[in-house]
Amino acid sequence: MDLPRPLSIDRGMRVYTVLGIETSCDETAAAIVRGAPPGPGEILANVVLSQLEAHRPYGGVVPEIAARAHVEVLDGIIARALGDAKADLPALDAIAATAGPGLIGGVMVGLLTAKGMALGAGKPLVAVNHLEAHALTVRLAEGTGFPFLLLLISGGHCQLVACEGLGRYRLYGATIDDAAGEAFDKTAKLIGLPYPGGPQIEALARTGNARRFALPRPMVGRAGSDFSFSGLKTAVRQVALRAGAPDAQTRADLAAGFQAAIIDCLVDRTRAAMARFRREFGIAAKAPTLVVSGGVASNMAIRAALKALAGEDGFDLRVPSPALCTDNAAMVAWVGVERAAAGMTDPLDVAPRARWPLAG
Ligand code: KG4
Ligand code: ZN
Repeated sequence: MDLPRPLSIDRGMRVYTVLGIETSCDETAAAIVRGAPPGPGEILANVVLSQLEAHRPYGGVVPEIAARAHVEVLDGIIARALGDAKADLPALDAIAATAGPGLIGGVMVGLLTAKGMALGAGKPLVAVNHLEAHALTVRLAEGTGFPFLLLLISGGHCQLVACEGLGRYRLYGATIDDAAGEAFDKTAKLIGLPYPGGPQIEALARTGNARRFALPRPMVGRAGSDFSFSGLKTAVRQVALRAGAPDAQTRADLAAGFQAAIIDCLVDRTRAAMARFRREFGIAAKAPTLVVSGGVASNMAIRAALKALAGEDGFDLRVPSPALCTDNAAMVAWVGVERAAAGMTDPLDVAPRARWPLAG
């Protein structure tokens, strides 16, 4: 039997073993992670059950279906994670669950389960901000030190954040309408591709001509680092309508054109944020790090464009593996490790939050 390798013992640092629970969207997930800040941590178990099939007929996530599905499977997923890690409740140092932001029904299921387990086992509770979990994934994966600049691009969020330390985040820019992944999903629906649209558009774009249709690049060249994608989606709709029932090549050209426009927007907004990060953290970050996280970071064309951008200005680009970029509970457990190590645990009456900005 291969026992977990002891971590950080040589540094005399206490190691934490934490159960993480994630139920804020359409993945039911539980994981056990062991480690100490700044990481990397050791993932002893990482179970993710996607509800994709349940939502596919509706072309998006249906909150009521999601909450019910979490209730049905969460206990079994947690049992499986504990089994995979060969751990029991007494072996844990804390129990962490996403407490927001997200679909409130699902968040309640995960947080209430964590509260019950924490109370029953006499363990501290950590109420995790889902965005902080995406932000710190890179520390779980690679032990990246603070500060770093984060581009978080997922189905629900699109923002640029300077991560200064645990719980210390400076918002550089965010979307004023749709998130990047949402734009992928809505555009995919417009051109007749199934949900979730990101991977479908990425695949179709490979055979398309990105220059056939002139699509807008909202916010490009503007001051600051805010994003906007709704105008781009509307432009795709208009082209698709004009084309009537678009043939296969037209759909591929639309996918390629849309993806190229998104890339231009992400690159321009991130470039502005990199300049600001250099101004504000110049001394602390001689070789500054750009981290990209969230489901959209799985897109290879986007990764390549951001890698080129980072290279232009001497930033080191770090992108966690796709399995850690999309929603998972290992990232939630990792925030549990960081917060437990800092003594930042939460009372059992902590409330779930549908909205919970990472930084103001
Ligand atoms: O981080 P995530 O799993 O869930 C949220 O917290 O939102 O992100 C899901 C989003 C979806 O909108 C999906 O279409 C998008 O990530 N996505 C992609 C790709 N893979 C997933 N977008 C573009 N290209 C991809 N390869
Ligand atoms: Zn997410």
